[in-house]
Amino acid sequence: MSQPAFADIGACVFDAYGTLFNVHSAADREAAALGDKAKALSASWRQKQLEYTWLRSLMGRHTDFWQVTGDALDYAMDLHGVADAALRERLMRLYRTLDAYPDVRPSLERLRAGGVKTAILSNGEPTMLADAVGHAGIADLLDDVQSVESVGIFKPDARVYQLSVERLDVAAERIAFVSTNAWDAAGAGYFGFKVAWMNRFGLPDERLGNRPAAVMKGLDELPGLLGL
Ligand code: LAC
Repeated sequence: MSQPAFADIGACVFDAYGTLFNVHSAADREAAALGDKAKALSASWRQKQLEYTWLRSLMGRHTDFWQVTGDALDYAMDLHGVADAALRERLMRLYRTLDAYPDVRPSLERLRAGGVKTAILSNGEPTMLADAVGHAGIADLLDDVQSVESVGIFKPDARVYQLSVERLDVAAERIAFVSTNAWDAAGAGYFGFKVAWMNRFGLPDERLGNRPAAVMKGLDELPGLLGL
């Protein structure tokens, strides 16, 4: 039985970074070079990357996510006192082939077998997304990979979520939107998607004025939520 909010879902749209792909796997793979700074640097890198997306959108100064990711890494390296140009280049290269979480492929397979369309909707720049999808080997399980570069502004601007409606030709209320990023889940909920927040990391609720229709711990719960 699907949860009532998720009856008659036509498509599942997934956030990419943090939801399907582990953003900390780049720094993890350079643990030997980063030593005890690896975790803190990776957390600062991610936080600053997100802040730069929100700030650039508010300031009307869009640049693509690859640039933002590099700018955020430069800030994080400065913050943590890591000055190593070769390491910077390695971390950026690794960001193109982040690890997919192990529950991604089996969940996508079950959704597709159940006749549900699947897509990524991400801040990511198209070639970054293509590299990550290729590395994860999930291209055959996705109907579409949608980048904010088509609209020139980052999440959570409503124009980003509208892109999925147009590209998939499925009404917003028949789209299940899945994100680990609770602020993205909030934006998608205000837009009109049925939102499943995947709280992989056991974080507290955001205080942004709305609630997701469902909260999951992992992607393996999604097919059941849809009654598949
Ligand atoms: C994305 C960011 C939010 O993939 O992680 O859109």
